[in-house]
Amino acid sequence: MNLVERDIASVWHPFTQHSLWPADDPLVIDRAEGMRLYDSDGRGYLDGCSSLWVTVHGHAVPEINEAIRAQAQRLDHSTFLGLTHEPGIRVAEELLKIAPAGLSKVFFAGDGSSAAEAAIKIAYQAASQRGEDRPLYLHCAEGYHGDTLGAVSLGGVELFHATYRPLLIETRMVSSPGVLQPGETRAERARAVLAEMRALIEREGDRICAIVVEPLVQAAGGILTHDPEFLRGVRELCDTSGAAMLVDEVATGIGATGRWFAVEHAGVSPDLLVLGKRVTGGVLPLSAVLARDSVYEPFLGDAASARTFFHGHTYTANPLCCAAALANLELMHERGTVARAAEVGDRIGSGLRELAQFDGVAEIRRVGTMTGIEVRSVGERTGFEVCRAARRKGAIVRPLGDVVVLMPPLGIGNADLDELLGIVTESVQEVVR
Ligand SMILES: Cc1ncc(COP(=O)(O)O)c(C=O)c1O
Repeated sequence: MNLVERDIASVWHPFTQHSLWPADDPLVIDRAEGMRLYDSDGRGYLDGCSSLWVTVHGHAVPEINEAIRAQAQRLDHSTFLGLTHEPGIRVAEELLKIAPAGLSKVFFAGDGSSAAEAAIKIAYQAASQRGEDRPLYLHCAEGYHGDTLGAVSLGGVELFHATYRPLLIETRMVSSPGVLQPGETRAERARAVLAEMRALIEREGDRICAIVVEPLVQAAGGILTHDPEFLRGVRELCDTSGAAMLVDEVATGIGATGRWFAVEHAGVSPDLLVLGKRVTGGVLPLSAVLARDSVYEPFLGDAASARTFFHGHTYTANPLCCAAALANLELMHERGTVARAAEVGDRIGSGLRELAQFDGVAEIRRVGTMTGIEVRSVGERTGFEVCRAARRKGAIVRPLGDVVVLMPPLGIGNADLDELLGIVTESVQEVVR
């Protein structure tokens, strides 16, 4: 049996309909270097989705690989429960240097979902240990925070989340700040959703422990962008109601929007910030929750107080992941990668200007490098067909329904970026005539 046959025989893939998978011509990726992935026949593809929004400098970065190798020889793994190690301490210090003002403690997790899950529990427990009864969360339609049950509870993507509703914790959901009514501006939408939040807070604000948002871009909801004013409004509502502002920067954080964190565009600082994805440069899983002292302090007490955060994972703060993160963050500082990401974003904007006028395109939404090309449906899987055309032309991009998501590695050079934009433009025009 070849690899594809063996895959079909044994493997169950994430977010994949397996009755379609065999006929969808599965692609076996064999290796990766720079901005390209190579299949088992040696054919190269530009990594237009940065391997699901994680690759920063490209693949096979010598500095990151060498850091992992050196760390493996010194300390491969040791639990972070009741012990500590230098790579973990240093990553925490480095994250706090780039974090929005006021965040002062780092709690590590593995994937974005596991960090979101930790933050959700932290917000509730902090309130409870301050003596407040706040069992509710306020969140937005079209939000996505991962696939664990707490994260799903705060999600709002019907297709992904509706099935699990009977299992979920109680929340209050408002409309998406990124889905506009006909004729409405983004600023008007922001004000409308803030008004919905305000009404809920008037009724039960003292029972809400956190307002949870993806800042500036609801990514998995379809790259739905909103006005920064929305985040300033959420900050104000948190201040007046005593709820924590919990921002999920798993997709937006570590440079994707052209700033270290998306909240910087709005000039606000949250009480809890979740990050993941790009922090290791896209090489190993590491995520974290950053918290303010006001959130951390209610967890302090003597052993009998049971105020401990009884939460953690076997591989929390794995030293190899931490070494990769340190090497990545150092390279990002050295190379000015966040400023480069802003330039990449501008170039995407100008490179797609013509495509935005094309009849087959409903809208192009973008903040920094995070780009969604919403195409007009011409069949059951239009977004998928565009991505399939791009694959034939030598680029990997992924659809979210009829939104083709383009999110190249932050450090991509102009020649590769222009080639990628050309492939995506041609693919849309070919499929959506
Ligand atoms: C905003 C946001 N939060 C959480 C997650 C979940 O992260 P992970 O897939 O690493 O669990 C994602 C994943 O795309 C995300 O975009």
